Amino acid sequence: MSEKVVLAYSGGLDTSVSIKWIKEKYGLDVVTCTVDVGQQEDLSRIGETAKKIGAVNHYQLDAKEEFARDYVFKSIKANSLYEGSYPLSTAIARPLLAEKLVEVAEKEGAVAVAHGCTGKGNDQVRFDITVKAMNPSLRIIAPVREWNLNREDEIKYAEKNGIPIKPSKSIFSTDQNLWGRSIESGPLEDPFVEPPEEAFEWCVAAKNAPDKAQYLEVEFESGVPVSVDGHKSSPVELIRYVNEKAGLNGFGIVDHIEDRLVGIKSREVYECPAALTLIAAHKDLEKLVLTRHELSFKSKVEEEWSWLVYSGLWMEPARLALDAFIDATQSRVSGTVRAKFYKGGMRIVGRKSDESLYQHKLSTYDRTSTFDQNAAVGFIELWGLPSRVANEKLTSGKKKKTPLQIARTPSKRS
Ligand code: ARG
Repeated sequence: MSEKVVLAYSGGLDTSVSIKWIKEKYGLDVVTCTVDVGQQEDLSRIGETAKKIGAVNHYQLDAKEEFARDYVFKSIKANSLYEGSYPLSTAIARPLLAEKLVEVAEKEGAVAVAHGCTGKGNDQVRFDITVKAMNPSLRIIAPVREWNLNREDEIKYAEKNGIPIKPSKSIFSTDQNLWGRSIESGPLEDPFVEPPEEAFEWCVAAKNAPDKAQYLEVEFESGVPVSVDGHKSSPVELIRYVNEKAGLNGFGIVDHIEDRLVGIKSREVYECPAALTLIAAHKDLEKLVLTRHELSFKSKVEEEWSWLVYSGLWMEPARLALDAFIDATQSRVSGTVRAKFYKGGMRIVGRKSDESLYQHKLSTYDRTSTFDQNAAVGFIELWGLPSRVANEKLTSGKKKKTPLQIARTPSKRS
């Protein structure tokens, strides 16, 4: 009996070819493992197919609730948007897949794990680092990266070896899970070309969205959503509901230029209706219940958190430490937020909370205000003191100049 490798199996071309390829080139028995993170593809016959191609065993794991609770909800608390735009939908699922692979590998007594990632992307980094952090003795095999495989070669190999492949009608390369759908390649590789309508499956075109605005009410408890439109639901159901409602209103598309970890700039298009809605709602609620200082520091933590997770460092102790800070701020993030969808757009139009720091008697401009306006004078005096002193110094020379004139004077050396 040969030694075993556990392959992350999606049923797509790369990983189907990998089953046979690994057996042939590495002499290992392949055990396949498919993890359900809400990709909503028909996974019922995937094990059968894997075995037909040559897998000696197949594991099918349902990790939807775990994904939603332990990964997606952490991203909501962190208002996580990489480079201000991408809600990490593909990125946060990778460490979970890697963890499951390692678990299966240990159970099977395998010597290696394998994945179908290319050497040009971020996913390889996320897989490899998580696997090594969990079990450094496992070897990692990545046939597409190691053999520089491309689509045409893979199709030829599949045909020659009788590997069943679904004829892909799509010109796009996609990846999807509960938190979003990533769309790459084809016409999208020209950053100036607008994504064609057929790229989208979750978000309707704005012109086909309802003519009447629709509202969504989300209730949060300690930083995580617990009910929508008055219904308590499980994390998975809740996210699905928001995906559907926002998507039917044409909201949820991201189209941006992204800096991949490996140094490449790429044009990335996503459909993330629930992610964009829930993060916007959560962030809005935080503005009601957290202090200015908490918000300001947290935004720096969020940027760092998103960067660590994007760049494959889910297992990094720094990420856990940032989560500890984030969690410390979330106990008061409870309340209800109203979002309004209309023809592809979304706006937060209301928020309320028992923890609200908003005080009408302070902010109102009417006569009932309790804010002491006279106190503002001394405050302004001290707040502006450093700027006043600096400006006095700048303008105190022989030839008096205003700061603006000084800024406009070219320096002698240049
Ligand atoms: N650029 C995104 C990321 O790195 C999406 C990657 C999509 N992956 C894929 N296998 N199609 O997270």
